[in-house]
Amino acid sequence: MSAYIVEGGNPLDGSVRVHGAKNSVLPILAACLLSPEECVIHNCPDLSDVTASLDILRHLGCRVARQGEMVTVDAGAPTGWDVPDNLMREMRSSVIFLGAVLGRMGRADLCAPGGCELGPRPIDLHLAAIRAMGAQIDESGGGLHCTGPLSGADIVLSIPSVGATENIMLAAAAARGTTTITNAAREPEIVDLQTFLRQLGADVRGAGSSVIVIRGGQALHGGEHTVIGDRIVAATYLTAAAAAGGQVEVTGVDYRHLSTVTAVLKEAGCAVKSGPDRVFLHSAPLRGVRPVRTAPYPGFPTDAQAPLMAALARGSGCTVFVENMFESRYRHVDELSRMGADIRVEGRVAVVYGVPRLHAAQVKASDLRGGAALVVAALGAEGESRITGLHHIDRGYQDLEGALSGLGARIRRV
Ligand code: EPZ
Repeated sequence: MSAYIVEGGNPLDGSVRVHGAKNSVLPILAACLLSPEECVIHNCPDLSDVTASLDILRHLGCRVARQGEMVTVDAGAPTGWDVPDNLMREMRSSVIFLGAVLGRMGRADLCAPGGCELGPRPIDLHLAAIRAMGAQIDESGGGLHCTGPLSGADIVLSIPSVGATENIMLAAAAARGTTTITNAAREPEIVDLQTFLRQLGADVRGAGSSVIVIRGGQALHGGEHTVIGDRIVAATYLTAAAAAGGQVEVTGVDYRHLSTVTAVLKEAGCAVKSGPDRVFLHSAPLRGVRPVRTAPYPGFPTDAQAPLMAALARGSGCTVFVENMFESRYRHVDELSRMGADIRVEGRVAVVYGVPRLHAAQVKASDLRGGAALVVAALGAEGESRITGLHHIDRGYQDLEGALSGLGARIRRV
């Protein structure tokens, strides 16, 4: 089992470019299924979740080719409508294929994605919306057997779910008639998906606001798209610099997409400057900040909660975190405590008491962002830490050790 060996205590210095956004490219790859012509995706990151998505597209009969950060998908003659169980389990977010497969093929067979390390991951909003669009969904035997045809509908989401919003956009682009999504998710990744769908000739408007309107049934063609930079990877690099000390410039990301994170890092004592496609952070001894409450975009992103907590674990003062998005997203706390962190968890609340020093430890990642948090903490800890469970981290970070080593971190993969 591979592991990271991190020698803490070395300040970071330099500039690093973030890779394309995982949570943008996954629905965009699913959207390629809607077009009968070739799609070219640039700035596609090399992540295990992306590899799983490309495997699903191949399984469905698409021609897929990858050259570095460029991926081409030709869904000219798809042959399948089932997402195999092994691939569904490999990538929980593969439920995002439901709308696209059903929209293109008129039917879709998936197994229920089940929970993950963050707790139960219900898809009731996805299914209710697809049913409202006319689909028949048989959930017997733990699978999802869906049949169309799909018609436009007015959908009101009780939660601004990112995945449900994306699934509805994809199904609606192929449906007959107009679909309105009220209380839609407003994440930048939703806007990026709209940009790509419009590139294919779909009539989608309103992404980034709470109301998205899709006029379905347009004849779609091929398209080319460059995926936005990953705001959570950018936030992770910045929290690493905050934890290790030093100064780092992160490029290739819209600074507005992580402004809630940079605001907290500023409040904690760092100097932060932003430019259109970059953020510069000069670290300083960290102090506690006002409560950090995770929320749907543009609120504080739940995916940045663990890396930020890891940085604030070493410093002065106290910070209260409230994790409002997922039931169990504090699995990194026990591992941080093994490094000397002083954190108390009560349900959705975690209270972080800054300590002057963290010490190296052998720790294990149990989810994607919690694993990144362990790397952040190890960079600021005294001594040599060993981090296992790297398959979690590989889902969302392309060559994390290479990016951090380029900034002067002593981290290697063994
Ligand atoms: C997306 O997950 C992201 N994943 C997550 O990133 C991110 O944490 C999350 O959005 C919130 O921003 C991808 O984009 C691939 P939701 P998603 O539907 O779509 C509940 C990472 O680390 N809910 O917005 O699954 C749900 O349980 C990952 O990159 C329902 O109850 O998130 C959660 O409590 C982790 N019923 C809340 O809504 C539903 O049908 C928000 O979930 C759907 C969701």
